Parts: sequence; C-alpha cells; structure tokens
Amino acid sequence: MIQVQDVVKEYHTGKTVVQALRGVTLKIEEGEFLSIAGPSGSGKSTLLNLLGCIDTLTSGTIRFQGKDLGSLSSDEASAFRREKIGFVFQSFNLIPVLSAYENVALPLELLHWDSQRIRRAVLSILAEVGLEGLEKRKPSELSGGQQQRVAIARALVKNPAVVLADEPTANLDSKTGEEILSLMKNLNERHGTIFVFSTHDPMVMRYARRLVYLHDGRIIKDERKE
Ligand SMILES: Nc1ncnc2c1ncn2[C@@H]1O[C@H](COP(=O)(O)OP(=O)(O)OP(=O)(O)O)[C@@H](O)[C@H]1O
Ligand SMILES: [Mg+2]
Repeated sequence: MIQVQDVVKEYHTGKTVVQALRGVTLKIEEGEFLSIAGPSGSGKSTLLNLLGCIDTLTSGTIRFQGKDLGSLSSDEASAFRREKIGFVFQSFNLIPVLSAYENVALPLELLHWDSQRIRRAVLSILAEVGLEGLEKRKPSELSGGQQQRVAIARALVKNPAVVLADEPTANLDSKTGEEILSLMKNLNERHGTIFVFSTHDPMVMRYARRLVYLHDGRIIKDERKE
C-alpha cells in the first residue's frame, strides 16, 4: 500500500544541514492504525509531511499504491493530496469564519462534487463524529474536542486512502484526547481508512495497533500489537 524505502530528508538552513530522516524504511498495509512515537526532533512530523506529499524527500522513494511520489509534478502532488490524503493537525486548523458544515464541505468543493452529494456526505460524517445539531457553529463556538471532531470529519469526508494526524491530541485534555482516539479507531475499523499519527502521549501509543519509534531520524523499533 505505502512503501517507504531508504528515505533521507535533509533541511538546509544557511550553511548548516539538518538530517531529519536518515534512511527510513517502512511498509504500511491496508487498514493500519499506526502511531509514530519518538522524542522532539526525531523526525515524526517530517515523515508525516513526506507521506502526505507536502514536502519532498532528499533521497530514497515513497511508493503509494505503486506510484512513486517523488516523480509527481507539483500539480500532480496537489491532486494526490486532494484525493487520497486527509490531514488532522495538533491545532485543528479550521477556517474560523466558516461553520462546522462549511469547513467539512470545503474539501468536497475542491473535488467539484455537486451540492446534493456534498450535503449528504457532510451531514453523515458530522453525525458519525458526534456533532449532529452543531453544523452551523463556527470553530470559536465549539470546544477543543468538538473542533478536533470537525477536523477529523473534514479529513474523512472524501473517503481518503490515508488520514495523517500530527499530534492530534496534544491540545486536548486527557479525557477528550481519549475520546478522539477512540473515535479515530472506530472510523478506522468501519471505513478501513489507514490512520498514521504522531505522538508523545503514552495514552495515544496504547491505542495504536502498531508503534514505530523514531530516534534521531531512524526507526529504532517497530512493534505490532494484537
Ligand atoms: N523546515 C525546517 N527547516 C530546518 N530544519 C527543520 C525543518 N523542519 C524540521 N527541521 C528539523 O528536522 C528535525 C526533525 O524535525 P521534526 O519536526 O520532524 O521532529 P518531530 O519529531 O516532529 O518533533 P516534535 O515532537 O517536537 O514535533 C529537527 O531537528 C528539526 O529542527
Ligand atoms: Mg512534530
């Protein structure tokens, strides 16, 4: 499904070179619920950004459903992101002037769905994440946990192959964080969508079915639970 092979990512700032990833190889299968753990600076966000094609790698390859992401033009990379990837961020990243409904509808408008089809999909996913009746609220009128539910609905509404979540519970209290995790796991089981999320949080790691530990840009442990 996703094959990450010998991936190196260097950042050049002035005269210094930071090796954020130093040869990462990882195979992600259909339906996985995978957590990337590791200390600050170990390369978690870098790896998620490469998987989501929002950054380009220095060497190595990432194949996604057989397609080499490194060979995509920037237009092709945007189309790939629009169709295949849902993102969930630590700080939710909702558009403040839009309602919950409008935030979730946006990715479908970018895919030129007709408004009837958008309406059905948006109402159904908002109900699924537990936000029925709150469709008209703006992000500022929702709690942190509710905002993250909107963000998860927005990531999932187009039925992407993969949801990438960078520390999705970092700005939530532990109870709300656990609810969000359990929601994501439910959605993973029901829709078969791959979830890859980064975290520092032991609670989040407990929920993962597979844990990949990064240290200093390298995978030091890769364990599956069952
Ligand atoms: N745009 C950038 N320019 C230069 N260096 C960067 C850039 N992004 C990340 N880095 C460096 O690459 C390394 C890996 O960063 P990354 O953000 O992937 O770590 P992380 O594991 O997500 O950390 P955290 O847990 O703090 O979010 C760090 O040394 C970081 O300083
Ligand atoms: Mg990070």
